[in-house]
Amino acid sequence: MLNGKKIILAVSGSIAAYKSALIIRLLIKAGASVKVIMTEASEDFITPLTLATLSKNPVLKDFTKDNDSGEWNNHVDLGLWADAIIVAPATANTIAKMVSGHADSLLLAVYLSARCPVFVAPAMDLDMYKHQSTQENLETLIERGDLIIQPESGELASGLIGEGRLTEPDHILEFLDNYFAEKASLYGLKLLVSAGPTHEPIDPVRFIGNHSS
Ligand SMILES: Cc1cc2nc3c(=O)[nH]c(=O)nc-3n(C[C@H](O)[C@H](O)[C@H](O)COP(=O)(O)O)c2cc1C
Repeated sequence: MLNGKKIILAVSGSIAAYKSALIIRLLIKAGASVKVIMTEASEDFITPLTLATLSKNPVLKDFTKDNDSGEWNNHVDLGLWADAIIVAPATANTIAKMVSGHADSLLLAVYLSARCPVFVAPAMDLDMYKHQSTQENLETLIERGDLIIQPESGELASGLIGEGRLTEPDHILEFLDNYFAEKASLYGLKLLVSAGPTHEPIDPVRFIGNHSS
């Protein structure tokens, strides 16, 4: 289902950023085109060189390119290019900024510009994840239509045990695959959604009807 899909992988500054390399490998193996956007903080955890090599595309980090020509990374074009955006790992900070509508990084500006589905895979320590702010932020993203790929429970980088660990890359791929498969199965179908009873005339006097549901 991911063959030919254009995917933006947005990587934020979590210890789980190393898993982004595996996500890219799986996406490429599935036939997707991948562009990676990194936050500044994520570079402390994995190098752009690794992610550029695996994705076969230069990693995008800043609004402007590092030269004197005035070239820039067009966040609007990137947002429109993508068939899907995966924010993985998604830090508490990035999630909060997605909710508040901040646009002070390329990742956030692309998120705000996108018309495609956005998948968010949180990764953080258990108390950060359980915090009311984080939970409310995730609820808000769901209400707005983003898809949350739940973190797993287990041993965390802090040594604590609980929920917050970035789910495994193959699970992220499976989640996306299922999403696109479900969409494809509805493609081309004409659906009639009725909120009240419907009446189909048999002749000018009689009709077939149903109760409202
Ligand atoms: C060693 C280390 C590990 C971190 N791991 C996480 C993490 O897993 N999740 C998280 O939300 N923040 C984590 N942080 C904090 C973020 O890096 C920090 O909030 C940063 O500002 C996030 O920026 P970004 O969202 O723009 O990438 C960690 C910080 C350090 C120093």
